[in-house]
Amino acid sequence: MPLVSMRQLLDEAAKGGYGVGAFNVNDMEQIQAIMMAARETRSPVIVQASRGARKFAEDLYLFRLIQAAAELNPDIPIAMHQDHGNSFETCKSAIELGYTSVMMDGSLKEDGKTPSTFEENVEITRRVVDYAHERGVTVEGEIGVLGGVEDGHGAGGSGLEHITDPDQAVEFAERTGVDALAIAIGTSHGAYKFTKKPDGSVLKMDVLIAIHKRLPHTHLVMHGSSSVPKELQDIINQYGGKLKPTWGVPVEEIQLGIRNGVRKVNVDTDNRLAITGAIRKVFAETPEKFDPRDYLKPAREAMAKVVAQRMVQFGQAGHAGDYKPIPISEIAKGYKNGQLDTRPSVAGR
Ligand code: G3H
Ligand code: 13P
Ligand code: ZN
Repeated sequence: MPLVSMRQLLDEAAKGGYGVGAFNVNDMEQIQAIMMAARETRSPVIVQASRGARKFAEDLYLFRLIQAAAELNPDIPIAMHQDHGNSFETCKSAIELGYTSVMMDGSLKEDGKTPSTFEENVEITRRVVDYAHERGVTVEGEIGVLGGVEDGHGAGGSGLEHITDPDQAVEFAERTGVDALAIAIGTSHGAYKFTKKPDGSVLKMDVLIAIHKRLPHTHLVMHGSSSVPKELQDIINQYGGKLKPTWGVPVEEIQLGIRNGVRKVNVDTDNRLAITGAIRKVFAETPEKFDPRDYLKPAREAMAKVVAQRMVQFGQAGHAGDYKPIPISEIAKGYKNGQLDTRPSVAGR
């Protein structure tokens, strides 16, 4: 099956009332792990690559691997998404490669660190939407700023410094026409999100609920959604790692988000932890081994286990065969004739 429009995946998720995990990839083993999990749980899936991933793996290697995944798994709808695009050029190059979805993260300037103004964000995102929709490609925007820094990307801070303002979210959706909107509700990227289990006073679920009520046709996206399970931290530390105690986003909070309009759930760190723990274990227990397959295979299996668990928890499990993929050229027509218009003044009329 060719790569599927992320908009279609998320529209279907909204109809079914479930969320779809968007898992970051950098190499073949991570792609295979996601596909093992998707096959096992019969899940549609979003695979995403950051700018750092595209640079690490080289564009063509990574994209051909995704195409191989799609060809080998004709029954699984897969959307390929650019994570945290920092400029029009980044999004354009992803679209030229064949990605079916891009994130224009205009909440930060092109350096990926400095918060931008609302007007700058609207302007760059609108430009990407015009270009992408003409080609049938989905666009995710971001309003508010997440905490943490990954691979040099991110504003730093705790995640509570730039919570999304619902009025601004509505204006942003109206002026850009994005398909999906990442909002800042107190999460941050990476392993060190919270120093204790977060409760209602830390994660601003009320803000999320308020935004969904006002933007029922814009799919909400939760970044920084790794749960950073203690078991995965423990394996790393048991085999010589040095992670400080930390807490991630509890799965129950993500599920509450999913009941209130969250359709795309970004997870990277949990998979990084699973891979690292599995590799450390092999190194510590069998230091005589040196064939990379001896540690990459358990690493891939450990990641597949986490991904499969999330697919069940987010509710996407069992939905792979629910719908027929719409060709991207047809999706482009839907944007052109207004059928796929999400702007609050138009959608749902
Ligand atoms: O945006 C965060 C993802 O975890 C990707 O991280 O930029 O280090 O590849 P990265
Ligand atoms: P985590 O660091 O919580 O896995 O978040 C990943 C993410 O948001 C990718 O865009
Ligand atoms: Zn993110």
